[in-house]
Amino acid sequence: MCGIVGFTGTRQAAPILLEGLSKLEYRGYDSAGIAVRDGDGRTEVVKAKGRLKALEEKTDCGLAMKGCCGIGHTRWATHGEPSEANAHPHISDDMDVVAVHNGIIENFREIKEKLSKKGYTFYSQTDTEAVVKLIDYYYKKYNSGPVDAISKAMVRVRGSYALAVMFKDHPGEIYAARKDSPMIIGVENGEAYLASDVPAILKHTRNVYYIGNLELAKLSPEGVEFYNIDGDIIEKEPTEIKWDAESAEKGGYAHFMIKEIHEQPKAVSDTLASAVKDGRIDLSAVGLSDEDIEGIGQIIIVACGSSYHVGISAQYVIEDLARIPVRVELASEFRYRDPILKKDDMVIFISQSGETADTLEALRDVKRRGIRTLAIVNVVGSSIAREADNVFYTLAGPEIAVATTKAYSTQLIVCYLLAVQFAKVRGEIDEERYVSLISELMSLPAKMQRLLDDKERIQWFASKFSNSKDIFFIGRGIDYAICMEGSLKLKEISYIHSEAYAAGELKHGTISLIEDGTLVVGVLTQNDLFEKIISNMVEVKSRGAYLMGLTTYGHYNIEDTVDFTVYTPQTDEHFTPSLAIIPLQLMAYYVSLAKGLDADKPRNLAKSVTVE
Ligand code: G6P
Repeated sequence: MCGIVGFTGTRQAAPILLEGLSKLEYRGYDSAGIAVRDGDGRTEVVKAKGRLKALEEKTDCGLAMKGCCGIGHTRWATHGEPSEANAHPHISDDMDVVAVHNGIIENFREIKEKLSKKGYTFYSQTDTEAVVKLIDYYYKKYNSGPVDAISKAMVRVRGSYALAVMFKDHPGEIYAARKDSPMIIGVENGEAYLASDVPAILKHTRNVYYIGNLELAKLSPEGVEFYNIDGDIIEKEPTEIKWDAESAEKGGYAHFMIKEIHEQPKAVSDTLASAVKDGRIDLSAVGLSDEDIEGIGQIIIVACGSSYHVGISAQYVIEDLARIPVRVELASEFRYRDPILKKDDMVIFISQSGETADTLEALRDVKRRGIRTLAIVNVVGSSIAREADNVFYTLAGPEIAVATTKAYSTQLIVCYLLAVQFAKVRGEIDEERYVSLISELMSLPAKMQRLLDDKERIQWFASKFSNSKDIFFIGRGIDYAICMEGSLKLKEISYIHSEAYAAGELKHGTISLIEDGTLVVGVLTQNDLFEKIISNMVEVKSRGAYLMGLTTYGHYNIEDTVDFTVYTPQTDEHFTPSLAIIPLQLMAYYVSLAKGLDADKPRNLAKSVTVE
């Protein structure tokens, strides 16, 4: 949500800012703007509603704006409609202070009221304008410089923010501050960059600083200086980003989503390789000892969106293999309850971005209670990764498409690895089963590849159903977890109404929605539940449904019942989500493509939901 970029150096800033913003498009936005300051402190601000293209047109791809220092923003509206007036950057009345912001300022009305009494005028409906003017107010009142003015504003505001601010009297400098919203800083050869996420600056530098909560930074061509909220200088070491720049480019694919779908075998294989050494699972890098594992009383998995769906699959697998009770919770629900947690519980947080606001707050709540936390995160150095007691990184590389695919697949793999290792350490499986489960895991990337090689059939089928009004997914057990993710993928990028149902629940209501020709996708990868789901499919078929069956090779009797069958290679039944999800991702993508939609940037959605 909302993307921030900043640049200061010796080159023209505007084209660099526009390019950086284009790399953050995946975060979701409805307007954009940039501010560029020249050496004399003259500032130019250009904003546009809609896609970045409109801003590029207004600025002649940045060439019309002169200056080597600037900030830019893509806005995902929270306070105030998407419009040019509400787009960032926002400025103080005399243009002394210019800023962009990601996050939500909860007490902005109160600040606005106070400043209005002091003669400030407000031109937008945004919370951001209140902070910009508050900084301007403190800057002029105390005359103690940018760091002091921003710190005073930080003490006064409530909420979350990543802020990038320029001051007229400080040309060539950008000031940054953050609390609970992501922001990174990169420095290379007399140039400094600022961004909400790594892909925006990967082309320019790999040396990245993470600015902590309630910290500030000053960027200039001389480098970067960090401060705490009291204005004292603090030291920080850069982290080297290992992602290669090409992985954040489309590389010949029409969309990032289809590219990322194809990257899944590699992402899964890299993630497996990070924890499987000589045929055994090694969790030492994660920091989990055998004693830790033996001592776990209960596992609670907390996440949002697709990461939550990974948790649902993991629940079945961990409970079945390791016999540890598992609860799965939506972070947005969990954080507003007073959950009952015991000292020997382990709470696992799953997040691609490591910045999802609800997941992060839930983590903080659990930490305050002194309960052990483990994070499964993709973005190195993100807030959740830094704050959890233990981290297991997924090695998916940068994921740009809003709808997750490869990060989801790597999260599943991490959960399997934990389940198998927990089962072994706790004596629930013997050596032979342990070795065979690991070898099955290692064979998944090649099986995923086989499904990808056969994508044309799915493409053909998807185009037939691209005009559907409703599509239902039904399954039981692990298959129900696969359905939840398949249904979410489809609805988020195709805008077709879709629901996942535990097949046994159909008769309690949903079956009344089935009409002639309604597509129902049945997922049947579990032997014990196969016959049960087939019966449910027959029930909907007799009410007019068109049936697609997604099953494992060997279940040929399905063809008597369903109209279209997709087979996945055989694997251990615990690991079927890794294979069954691929045809469903492809189906969602090709339905969206057939409808002429942009699968990478579905309407109203953001990749990283950094506000609650
Ligand atoms: C957004 C994304 C989803 C993602 C969810 C949770 O809704 O579009 O793909 O699953 O956030 O994000 P996280 O980064 O915490 O996994």
